[in-house]
Amino acid sequence: MDVFEKCFKEGGYLGMFRMAKDKYFTRPILSLYPGTEMEFNGINTVIWSINNYLGLAGNEEIKKIAVDAAAEFGASAPMGSRMLTGNTLSHEALEKKLADFENKESAILFNYGYLGVLGTLSAIVHRSDTIIIDKLSHACMIDGTFLAGGKYRFYKHNDMNDLEKQLKTANKLSRGGILIVTEGVFGMRGDLANLPVICDLKDKYGARLFVDDAHGCGVMGQTGKGTPEHFGVMDRIDLYFSTFAKSFAAIGGFTAGHDDVIRYIRYNARTQIFAKSLPMIYVEVVNATLDIIQNNSGLRKRLWEVANKLQSGLKELGFTLGDTASPITPVYVPAEPEIAKEVVKYLREKRGIFVSGVMYPVVPKGVILLRMIPTASHTDEQIEKTLSAFKSLRDDFKLPLDVA
Ligand SMILES: Cc1ncc(COP(=O)(O)O)c(C=O)c1O
Repeated sequence: MDVFEKCFKEGGYLGMFRMAKDKYFTRPILSLYPGTEMEFNGINTVIWSINNYLGLAGNEEIKKIAVDAAAEFGASAPMGSRMLTGNTLSHEALEKKLADFENKESAILFNYGYLGVLGTLSAIVHRSDTIIIDKLSHACMIDGTFLAGGKYRFYKHNDMNDLEKQLKTANKLSRGGILIVTEGVFGMRGDLANLPVICDLKDKYGARLFVDDAHGCGVMGQTGKGTPEHFGVMDRIDLYFSTFAKSFAAIGGFTAGHDDVIRYIRYNARTQIFAKSLPMIYVEVVNATLDIIQNNSGLRKRLWEVANKLQSGLKELGFTLGDTASPITPVYVPAEPEIAKEVVKYLREKRGIFVSGVMYPVVPKGVILLRMIPTASHTDEQIEKTLSAFKSLRDDFKLPLDVA
């Protein structure tokens, strides 16, 4: 059989869209400059689909830092991996600053969040160890779990009884260690991991905890340190991870934890050892962005204002938002795939509102999730325009809004 045979047929991830050479629902092209309004298919739309939580994408101060760094270092510096020739004092200083921000002893930078999670999990977990992972965790955590090559068990999403059951079984069956793996804020649904109970359980069963807080860092907690700060359990998280691709509006990521553990990851995370070091442009940009996150709580306050206005407005219109407890605003609409596509088209073309639709298997069959990301830069007028669009959507499509 030809190994390419699958490429000519439907099947695989989003195969229907691939075969249709779709550029509307998958791989749409938006105008280059990320903001709250962007052009799509010649229409100016209000964008609710980019994770620019604090509105820092396009921030003039940060842009200048990127331009200055490009002028000084070019796009190539430093050359080589951190282990050999790509380490700099700036990388080390940024790691120290990130560790301090998260009240941890040390941190390690990664070039992408995805690579950070893969590298961290596969460095720490060996064949005799077990990962116990929330079933709804992001793909990078699932892939990292497989790559690690240890045993693994899924627990039902945020189900603490099931987590305890899995911990008990793993403790019985395995002589190695146990790492619990979860998101802090779940990226699709916006609900939070029950970190206080997870911490109690990990203590009770002698496990360790890795939290991917991609959607919580800069957003959650009094000072933006993330979901563990929100719950008051920062010191109980063994490994804290975030990407820079969301509230930091950059590229890269970091894992923070105990000094010896981070040093072990440094020497064993293959996605970092065998990859070029994070470019200086991003080191400089993330460094400056962290200052803004720490010193400008107004951005976080505005983000939450926008999120609360949007969420309460949608609820008043009768839409179901599930149990989000973060700015992520998932609107669940009962609709079969064909209607779901019409809903997305209607919002984009008739109302100038750009949202992304998420379908089965992320949500049950017959439901579409319109995943909306409020940011600190959205204006009240944009919120009003969006709510009015959802009101017309509800009335024009006569949607039954109750989602069980
Ligand atoms: C929870 C979570 N972890 C990790 C990642 C990967 O981050 P990056 O885009 O920096 O590779 C994402 C991005 O979608 C994410 O949502």
